[in-house]
Amino acid sequence: MKTLIAYSTTLGCTEQCASKLKEDIGEDVEMVRISRRRRFNLQQYDTIIVGGSIHEGMIQRSVHKFCDSNLAVLMQKQIGLFICCMDSDANEQELIAQAFPDQLIEHALASGFFGGELNIKKMNLLQKIMTRKAARLKKEPDIDFERILEFARKIYELGSDDNFEGPIVHM
Ligand SMILES: Cc1cc2nc3c(=O)[nH]c(=O)nc-3n(C[C@H](O)[C@H](O)[C@H](O)COP(=O)(O)O)c2cc1C
Repeated sequence: MKTLIAYSTTLGCTEQCASKLKEDIGEDVEMVRISRRRRFNLQQYDTIIVGGSIHEGMIQRSVHKFCDSNLAVLMQKQIGLFICCMDSDANEQELIAQAFPDQLIEHALASGFFGGELNIKKMNLLQKIMTRKAARLKKEPDIDFERILEFARKIYELGSDDNFEGPIVHM
C-alpha cells in the first residue's frame, strides 16, 4: 500500500512529526512539502495523509488550497488528517474543523492533533514578538509521539489493503 504524507510547515515541527509518522507507518511512504505553486500526482497513492500547523489560529493557506483543489481525488483515497499547535486550551475538534473541508473530515480514517514546538531559532522578529505575547502558548516542546504512533496504528487497522504491513512499534 502506497502512502503519501503531504505537509506544510512554517518552522519545521510539522515536518518532524511527518517524519516520525513515516517511520511509524513503515514501508512505501513518501513525504512531500505542500507548496502553493506545486501540482501533485495523487492518483498513484492508496492513502494520503495531510498535515499542517496552526499560526494565529489558522492552518497554512497552502493546506486549504491543497485540500480544495484536490478534493475529488482525495475523496477516492484513504485519508488521514493532522495538525500541530501549542495552545493547551485549544479544542482539537474545532481546529480540525477549521483546517480541513467537512467532507474530508467525515471521510478520514484518522484525524489527530500531535502537539507542537516553538522553534525560536527559526523565528523572525515578528514571530518572536507574536509568540511572546500569546501567553496561552506552551513554551516547552510538546510533540506527542505516542499520538503519532496511535495515528499510524489507526490508519493501518482501518485501511483496507491486505499488503499494508502496519506500523513499526519501537521498543
Ligand atoms: C507566529 C506564531 C503564531 C502561532 N499561533 C498559534 C496559535 O494561534 N495557536 C496554537 O495553538 N499555536 C500557535 N503557534 C504554535 C505553532 O502552532 C507550533 O509552534 C507548531 O509546532 C509550529 O509548527 P511548524 O514548525 O511546522 O510551523 C504559533 C507559532 C508561531 C511562531
